[in-house]
Amino acid sequence: MQNIVLAGATGGIGRAIADRLLREEGIRVWGLCRAPEDEKAWQADHDGRLTLGRWDATSPDQFGNRLADLLPDDLEVSGLIYAAGLLHGEGLKPEKRLEDLDMASLNHAFTVNALAYPMLVQALLPWLRHGESKRLMAISAKVGSLEDNRVGGWYAYRASKAALNMFVRNLAIEMPRRSKKVCCVAVHPGTTRTALSAPFEQSLAQLQVHDTDDTANNLVKIFLALTEKDNGRFINWDGTDLPW
Ligand SMILES: NC(=O)c1ccc[n+]([C@@H]2O[C@H](COP(=O)([O-])OP(=O)(O)OC[C@H]3O[C@@H](n4cnc5c(N)ncnc54)[C@H](OP(=O)(O)O)[C@@H]3O)[C@@H](O)[C@H]2O)c1
Repeated sequence: MQNIVLAGATGGIGRAIADRLLREEGIRVWGLCRAPEDEKAWQADHDGRLTLGRWDATSPDQFGNRLADLLPDDLEVSGLIYAAGLLHGEGLKPEKRLEDLDMASLNHAFTVNALAYPMLVQALLPWLRHGESKRLMAISAKVGSLEDNRVGGWYAYRASKAALNMFVRNLAIEMPRRSKKVCCVAVHPGTTRTALSAPFEQSLAQLQVHDTDDTANNLVKIFLALTEKDNGRFINWDGTDLPW
């Protein structure tokens, strides 16, 4: 049985990934979200292969306790997918110019989009100390690419995703020193119809937009095929490489 921890399990992309993973045999999903009590029916649909635990990215000092509440001590975790993230909400909207920047919003975006990821990997270490393969996949965004940034704006989102990408690169260097069969990557899911992209519906008309099931198919295909050879890649939804 492969045990996959999925953070952001009740988001648009996260939920679709969980459902897609659970269509595979031999996979159990341990989901982290902010309101697991609202998801009893969803868990019941999956005959004990989906277990949800409470977790908030803004409380990193709690991550160890939250994982200990969710995961049996002797569980071997073979994968982590980080699908939490935000672009707008709680006082944050994508900035068009310097005057729009706000310190509290920048902090919040950095915490959820970037800082919580390595803190979660750190908290997960006790469940990763086994000799089998491990895949760690962070859902990033193409707009976090330094090289790809030609239009500016979206300061908090772009910069926090660039920071997430740097965390992935660091993990890709350190984790193989601890264990041979490990792969750490960042992925761009492609523009996907979710609450995150909903306010931009008009501009989306010019883009290729995926529904959540398409995106989950693309990302789970990438995730399940990851090997040590992919370690350190920034992967587009179609499997091609993106510039950092
Ligand atoms: N949709 C797109 O077009 C697109 C494009 C590029 C990249 N992405 C990335 O894909 C990932 C998933 O986005 P989505 O489109 O699925 O957005 P979404 O439907 O808005 O889901 C966002 C997820 O982030 C979680 N989250 C937000 N704040 C949190 C906090 N303080 N603590 C814990 N979890 C928190 C939400 O948890 P709750 O369920 O508890 O609210 C939810 O699971 C994000 O990293 C996003 O940047 C999306």
